[in-house]
Amino acid sequence: MTAEVVDIAVIGLGVMGRNLALHLADAGFAVAATDPFPEVVVVAAEEMAGRVRLVATPRDAASGPDRARRFLVMIKAGDPIDALLADLDGVLLSGDVIVDGGNSHWQDTERRERLLAPRGIRFVGLGVSGGREGARHGASLMAGGDRDALAEIAPLLAALAARAPDGTPCHGRFGDGGAGHFVKMAHNGIEYAQMQLWAEAAVALLGPAGLAPARAAEVVAAWAQGPAASYLLDATAVVLRAEDLDTGRPLVEIVADRAAHKGTGKWTVEAAAEFGVAVPSIAAAYFARILSAERRPRPGLARPPAAEADPETIVADLAAALPLAMISAYLQGLDLIVAAARARGWDTDPAAVVRVWRAGCIIRADMLTPLAEAVAGRDDVWDALESPFGREAVETGAPALRRLVATLAGAGVPIPGFASVLAHLDGLGAARLGASVIQGQRDLFGDHSFERVDRPGAFHHDWARETAR
Ligand code: 6PG
Repeated sequence: MTAEVVDIAVIGLGVMGRNLALHLADAGFAVAATDPFPEVVVVAAEEMAGRVRLVATPRDAASGPDRARRFLVMIKAGDPIDALLADLDGVLLSGDVIVDGGNSHWQDTERRERLLAPRGIRFVGLGVSGGREGARHGASLMAGGDRDALAEIAPLLAALAARAPDGTPCHGRFGDGGAGHFVKMAHNGIEYAQMQLWAEAAVALLGPAGLAPARAAEVVAAWAQGPAASYLLDATAVVLRAEDLDTGRPLVEIVADRAAHKGTGKWTVEAAAEFGVAVPSIAAAYFARILSAERRPRPGLARPPAAEADPETIVADLAAALPLAMISAYLQGLDLIVAAARARGWDTDPAAVVRVWRAGCIIRADMLTPLAEAVAGRDDVWDALESPFGREAVETGAPALRRLVATLAGAGVPIPGFASVLAHLDGLGAARLGASVIQGQRDLFGDHSFERVDRPGAFHHDWARETAR
């Protein structure tokens, strides 16, 4: 190793780390790279040779006269990050910046920041979305943490970021502490909800609409010309089109009907419960994955009537309802981000978050450009539905969504995603929710009191009087 200046050391040479390191090297930065497992460094050597300076261990990268001052950590979230920080204890120096680019829990990020801050070491949480392609060619980057540390690495982030349609790099700082990882977590919650919606759309096309997978793929692909145009739409069409290499059968009939998950959807649901925000479609999507993995099929359990469903109407209603359902998923996630930002004192601008999602990430979609405008400057992100963009989506989508939910429920197709979007919109719009009955019940059995519509204060009813009547 010659004593040259290293702009950044990437720690973790899995798929994401390797591609991010090569991306930074291509952008002209001097990059060192290493991994907590020496054998992984050996395996990466050929691909990285001559472009990235490979270092045997993370401790080596942080030691000696030519040590790195900035570290991009791309290892598994959870205990491995704490183990790495323990390993680096004693060699990290005041002024160093450690960027955790994994899917870490935002509260872990805040704990690690607090742990290192007294020694002047800046720990930054960076949500990175886009998978292998994003890492190599442009990702969506959601940062949180020390403002100066992030300003220092801004050129590196700008080089790694995907470019939005208007050319702006998709990276942003969304507040102190764990704000970046919180925004990434909510991104994944939205990802869960939209994946569930596309899965339900596929089941509707393959089931009641009676389409073969290849034809269903064509129908979905055609929607890319309309308002639902998005990465997940494209991905759904590809999945429906794919054939199994062993049997030649449609892959969607071969892949086991059980969804896995790695935790960020669960964290989103937990955070929503914690911050008191309704994210029904994210929760529905998470629990639908759980059900798919846990269930023992009981065919015909709820005995749906064999409702006649018109295939053309189903296809048309899906096309009209999906954009509105996608918007609902975005607004549920943004609502959660705004609530957390308020509670934690983060200066998170929801419109800026949406702009960072316009390219590179899994939930990128054409509609995010108008959605960013629609949420800009609003205290309540749901007011975006009052904008011309929102009104158009509701006017076109709501009648189709209502018909679709009725048709698919009638046909016995499980649609927790679409049904939750409709129930939530109806909840936002309804004159009566039934909460007055719940408050009455709470006061009846638990003396919990209720508010009145005609005067302020907390009130009780004389419930004994009712039983005596
Ligand atoms: C991304 C993705 C990614 C996530 C996968 C898997 O933005 O690139 O969100 O970070 O790891 O989507 O998540 P699950 O295993 O929980 O589905």
